[in-house]
Amino acid sequence: MELIIFTERKKLKALILYWSATGNTEKVAFAIRKGLQTEGADVTLLRVEEAQGIDLYEYDLVFLGAPVHQWQPAEPVVKFIKEKIDCHRGRGDIRIGAPRRPGKKAVVYCTYSGPHTGIDEAIPTCKYMGQFFAHIGIHVVGEWYIIGEFHGKEDRSTLGPLGDIRGRPNAQDLLKAERDTIELVQSLKRGGS
Ligand SMILES: Cc1cc2nc3c(=O)[nH]c(=O)nc-3n(C[C@H](O)[C@H](O)[C@H](O)COP(=O)(O)O)c2cc1C
Repeated sequence: MELIIFTERKKLKALILYWSATGNTEKVAFAIRKGLQTEGADVTLLRVEEAQGIDLYEYDLVFLGAPVHQWQPAEPVVKFIKEKIDCHRGRGDIRIGAPRRPGKKAVVYCTYSGPHTGIDEAIPTCKYMGQFFAHIGIHVVGEWYIIGEFHGKEDRSTLGPLGDIRGRPNAQDLLKAERDTIELVQSLKRGGS
C-alpha cells in the first residue's frame, strides 16, 4: 500500500493548455499528451477558456500552446495570460529578479505559417508566453515552433518562405512533438533542466 502511494506521489503532474482556431495547435496538444502518457505522467488537457481558475503551481510541468496571429499569441491566449498575471500579482507571486520555484517547469509552443518572414514572425509569440512563466517563477525549459497550414488562405500556405506547408502539422511533425515530449520528461526525471 505504502509503495503504491509513493509511486503515485512520484508521478509527474502535467498540464497542457492551448487554444486553437483551425485545429493545428490542438493536434500538437494531443501529440504532447500522447508523449506524456507514454511516460506515465498524470495529464490534464484544457483549452485556455476552461483554465482560468487553475493553479499553475500545482503542476510539475505546464505546456502552453497558441497559434500565431499577427506575430503574437492569438487573442484568447493573451487574455488568459493577462488575467493570470493580474491574479499572480495580487497574490504577491511576481518578485524582483523572478526567483524560480523549485521543480516547476514550462514549455511554450506555437503553430505558425510564416507567410511573410518565416519563423521570425513566430518567435515573439513563444517569447511572450515564456515571459509569463518566467515572471511567475516557472522555468521555461522549451520553446517549440511547429509549422501549420494557414487554413483558408492557399497563397499563404504555398508561396511564403516555408514553401508548401499544406497538411502541416503532418504525421511527422506530430511524431516529433510526441518524441520531444518523451525526451524532455526523461531528461527531467534524470534531474536535467
Ligand atoms: C487571423 C490570423 C492571423 C495569422 N497571423 C499569422 C502571423 O502573423 N504569422 C504566422 O506565421 N502565421 C499567422 N497565421 C497562421 C496561423 O498561425 C497558423 O495557421 C496556425 O497554425 C493556426 O493554428 P490553429 O489551427 O491552431 O488555429 C494567422 C492565422 C490567422 C487566422
